[in-house]
Parts: sequence; C-alpha cells; structure tokens
Amino acid sequence: MMKRMPFIAGNWKMNKTVSESVDLVKHLKISLSGVQGVEVAVAPPFTALYAVRKELEGSFIQLAAQNLFWEEKGAFTGEVAPPMLKEVGCGYVILGHSERRRYFGETDETVNRKIKATLSQGLKVIFCIGETLQEREGGTAFAIIERQLTGGLKDISNEEMRTIVVAYEPVWAIGTGKTATPDQAEEVHRFVRKKLEALYSKEIAEGVRIQYGGSVSPENVKALMGQENIDGALVGGASLKSETFSQIVRFREM
Ligand code: PGA
Repeated sequence: MMKRMPFIAGNWKMNKTVSESVDLVKHLKISLSGVQGVEVAVAPPFTALYAVRKELEGSFIQLAAQNLFWEEKGAFTGEVAPPMLKEVGCGYVILGHSERRRYFGETDETVNRKIKATLSQGLKVIFCIGETLQEREGGTAFAIIERQLTGGLKDISNEEMRTIVVAYEPVWAIGTGKTATPDQAEEVHRFVRKKLEALYSKEIAEGVRIQYGGSVSPENVKALMGQENIDGALVGGASLKSETFSQIVRFREM
C-alpha cells in the first residue's frame, strides 16, 4: 500500500494579532526543528499572513489561509481573492470549515466554487466535512458526509483530487474537548476513502490524505494517528500554543 505522508495543520481561527502570530511561529520554528517525516502548515488570520510568511522563510512549515472568495478580483468588499493568497505565499487554503458553513452560510455549492478557484491558482485545499451532533444522533452522519463530499467535489478532476486533503471534523468534537474515539473517527475515514474510490479510483483514494479534526491534543493524537485511515490532524485550540502544537506534530514521540 502507498504510504501517505502525515499532515498536521494548525487552524488559528480568529485568534492572534500580527505580533502574537510572529511570536508563535518564532517559537514553533524552534520547537519543530529537526522534525522529519511529517508535513506541517499553520493558518493564521489574513492580517498576519504576510508577516508569518516572512518569519517562515527557509522553514519547512507551510502557510495556509482559512478561507477565500472565488472571484479573482473586483467589487467584493471585505473578501480576499485566490491570487492574493498565492502571492503572499500560501500553499493551502482551508475550505468548508463547519464554522464557515454554520455562521457564514456556506453551502456545498459555494464550497465547491471556492475549491475550484483555489485549485485554478495552483493552491492546494484542505476540504472540511463533518456531521453535527443532531445528525449523528439522528443516524444521518454518513449521508451528510456523502452529500458534502459529492457536492464539494463536483466537477473536480482526478488530477485535481490528488492535491486535495480532506479533513473530517465532527462538529460535536470541535472546541468541545469531546474527541471522536479513534474507532469512531476511523469508521468515518474508511467511509470517506471508499467514497473517494467510487468517485475517482482506488489509486487516487489511497493517495488522498484524510485529517481528523476536533479537540485534537497531545494526549489523544497518537491513538488517532495509529488508525489506518487517519493521515493527519487539523488542530484548532491546541495549535495556539507552540508547546501543544509541536507535541502534536511530534506525535510519534508521544
Ligand atoms: P479544535 O478545532 O481543535 O479547537 O476542536 C478544530 C477545528 O475546528 O479545525
């Protein structure tokens, strides 16, 4: 079986001013020095991207954005375009996060437009999916995930799919301290990979990294990463401190 490179990304959400962001990456560069065999990215707020990029020069830590708008430029007050993120040095864009879906009205269709716009600039995507507690308890979790996958990936080609990372984030586990158990997460990850196989091919599905997100911590990361279909983590709260984030990146040593 093809070996997938683990990928740990920190989603800072609406936290950290420019100076706080620079301070955090300065510490991260030190605490992550010597780390090998894992891909790492941080996603600061838009205002800090430029300064963080400068601070990360020469580092293996990559830069990600938390959102974008699909148009290339124009009269869209308050929005940020894909070429702007490319020029500032982003390698990835997080799209479809449940907070964007819940608070900002994003749908499978708008997420799909954003994915296409991101890929067209040569940027890679961290595509978030996940069910709410109500959906899980109502027995519709898998149907919701299937809908999010097929809707978000509509008209995405085989070649494009190779540059997409999927992040499974059960909404009930985000910021709640309530992690899905490794078995619960693995069950969904396996389902996602099967679905990708049906939509694309076995070879593509085997190569796609699927991150888990939702209260990932230094305490639970190793057990999660030990699952066959869990290839990384999208980390919120624990990515705001260099100690906890670097412990997560160093999951093999935990
Ligand atoms: P959390 O957030 O780690 O704070 O639960 C994860 C996310 O929303 O990406």
